[in-house]
Amino acid sequence: MNGTECMDRLIAGQRENPGMTLDQAFYVSSRVFERDVERIFRQQWILVGHVSRIAGTGQYFLLEIANESIIVIRQSESVVSAFYNVCRHRGSRICLQPEGRRRMLTCPYHSWTYGLDGALKVARTMPEGFDPSQYALTPCQVRVHHGLIFLYLGSGQAPDFDSLYGETVPYLAQQGIAEAKTAARTDYPNAANWKLVVENFIECYHCAAAHPEYTSVHSEEKLKAFGAGPGSGSQEDVDRFQVVQEAWEQRTRESGNFVGILEPEHDAFAMHQAARFPINENGWLSETIDGTAACNRLMGAFQEHDGGQTAVSFNPFSYVLASNDYAVVFRFTPRDPLNTDIELTWLVHPDAEAEKDYEVAHLTRLWHVTTEQDKTITENNQLGVLSSAYRPGPYSSREARNIRFKHWYLDHLGASPGSSGPGSVACSSSPTG
Ligand code: FES
Ligand SMILES: [Fe+2]
Repeated sequence: MNGTECMDRLIAGQRENPGMTLDQAFYVSSRVFERDVERIFRQQWILVGHVSRIAGTGQYFLLEIANESIIVIRQSESVVSAFYNVCRHRGSRICLQPEGRRRMLTCPYHSWTYGLDGALKVARTMPEGFDPSQYALTPCQVRVHHGLIFLYLGSGQAPDFDSLYGETVPYLAQQGIAEAKTAARTDYPNAANWKLVVENFIECYHCAAAHPEYTSVHSEEKLKAFGAGPGSGSQEDVDRFQVVQEAWEQRTRESGNFVGILEPEHDAFAMHQAARFPINENGWLSETIDGTAACNRLMGAFQEHDGGQTAVSFNPFSYVLASNDYAVVFRFTPRDPLNTDIELTWLVHPDAEAEKDYEVAHLTRLWHVTTEQDKTITENNQLGVLSSAYRPGPYSSREARNIRFKHWYLDHLGASPGSSGPGSVACSSSPTG
């Protein structure tokens, strides 16, 4: 059996128990990881950051994903570009710092120098006939959607962005994401497979045990229904919360603000969704530890606090969660089978001033402590999954979104028709296998 057949059998075997977690190989194996990158991270639009991080021409940051390093750079006032961080001379990395500002992109090895548009400008002592136009940096496809920078790392035609994500526009427009500014940004390196990070983020079954702050912000009924977004709670719990949801929606609609819940089709390509719902009807203005405002300036079209929050997921590893006065962009980026980078970017109104309109510590506290707690539990989860004693376990009724994610994931990984049965014997599941 060759590697592909082996992988196909392994994938097909996962469908036999839809309500159970994946086999160990899916959380530890480098072969599965390679397939994840090829079939998922090179097929989806990946949210990598907000334009306000690179507001000035020449400002850049690096996106490190699997074996790739990508330079995301402000080429001009109106253009954000992205290039593989690979010199066209002998392949050195060009930018070595995770972020910075450059007038030109000069390779540190032999000083080949590229413009901000990726064109090769200087290459010393090359033989006659050398044509610099043949040696521009390799570009990535970029799409800026309401200020959010998305990359497509596939080699072929990217999925049509607007037909995929057109429905997110009212949510992002109401929130003023396009013109927002970055108030804070933090990296949380996570020693866990990206699927453990995602699976943890899309269920709130763990909230009571892991998140005292988060559970003190939201009511129990809300956490059961929407604790990890639409689809994370059972239908029973959603129905129970419906009275609160509908009363808030009616009030909010009357005030002129947008409301709505966008649930993905069962076979949605990106598993995207969007929703607005109340934070906590006991007077919570913003999703902060004590319910007080995070910022004096409201974002976007909000005239006054409507007590609601907005959740948009573009795919299982790209999210925006927002209150009326701040938004958080979540990025989960796989580095290798056992490591995932989590990045949180806090956005506020462009004219809001630190210390005067918002305190960074207050603005960031809830999602900072919650993400630290999630880091601890997912790293413990990974350690357990690495054990010889790990076996797939059953999901609860509060992990409905995980079951959907598992289907989505397996659909993308793609098993060849006709392959069936567990293949874990034939496929190595060691981290290096
Ligand atoms: S590898 Fe970049 S200049 Fe030689
Ligand atoms: Fe959590």
